[in-house]
Amino acid sequence: MNSAEQTQIQPTTPSFAMLRTLAGIAMLSGLLVVMVFQFTRPIIEENKRIAIEKAVSRVIPGVVSKKDYLLGPDGLFPAVAGEGNPGEKIYAGYDADGKLKGIALEAAATGYQDVIRILYGYNQDCQCVTGIKVLKMAETPGLGDKIAFDPEFLRNFEALDARLNADKTGLENAIVTVKHGSKREQWEIDSISGATISSKAIGRMINDSGQRMFPLIIKHLDRLRSGQ
Ligand SMILES: Cc1cc2nc3c(=O)[nH]c(=O)nc-3n(C[C@H](O)[C@H](O)[C@H](O)COP(=O)(O)O)c2cc1C
Repeated sequence: MNSAEQTQIQPTTPSFAMLRTLAGIAMLSGLLVVMVFQFTRPIIEENKRIAIEKAVSRVIPGVVSKKDYLLGPDGLFPAVAGEGNPGEKIYAGYDADGKLKGIALEAAATGYQDVIRILYGYNQDCQCVTGIKVLKMAETPGLGDKIAFDPEFLRNFEALDARLNADKTGLENAIVTVKHGSKREQWEIDSISGATISSKAIGRMINDSGQRMFPLIIKHLDRLRSGQ
């Protein structure tokens, strides 16, 4: 058989059929992704809500109920699902008598490996931080991940000084993480030995968040106390 004959009997590529099959597979895959997303979204949201609720009761001692707000330079707004975002989400925690026990806030900063996200508590009466709960991190097991459970490190946040300055525009003293064993002041965080980078990320995120948010909390304290 010469080469001209060979070319003639080669089967033609069914390009239209191939394209149709590929397009069908792509559409089906897309549909499946959307369906899985739609199905899992409420489950993920519910798990997130439960995790936040647990974290709030951990960082605000004595809290039995909470109300979600959005707080920013534009004011304080009740957080309504699906509405715009005029501020940062905060959680006001109340005791059984409806008395404001504290505010929980989210904060984040880059640690040794990746972004660390925490929820922390702020008490408006002592103007101090009352606890932290790590929500997300990828710090090294046995080193940086101690920020989540090391009892000595967590003691830093039982009454960490976060008083406002005289004109209530920021903190009187910046919250700062110091080298292990050198904490002298109530606004200093004693870092974990061998994990100074992760410890510093915690101090940095609380200071940045506090400088921005504590003046706004104090400004809107009456409304937060009334739960309106
Ligand atoms: C493999 C490896 C992983 C590390 N992971 C962390 C970590 O997750 N967080 C952290 O702060 N330091 C981590 N370090 C240590 C830092 O490089 C740094 O030495 C330490 O934070 C300094 O703490 P120190 O001043 O108490 O010695 C890690 C080091 C190595 C070699």
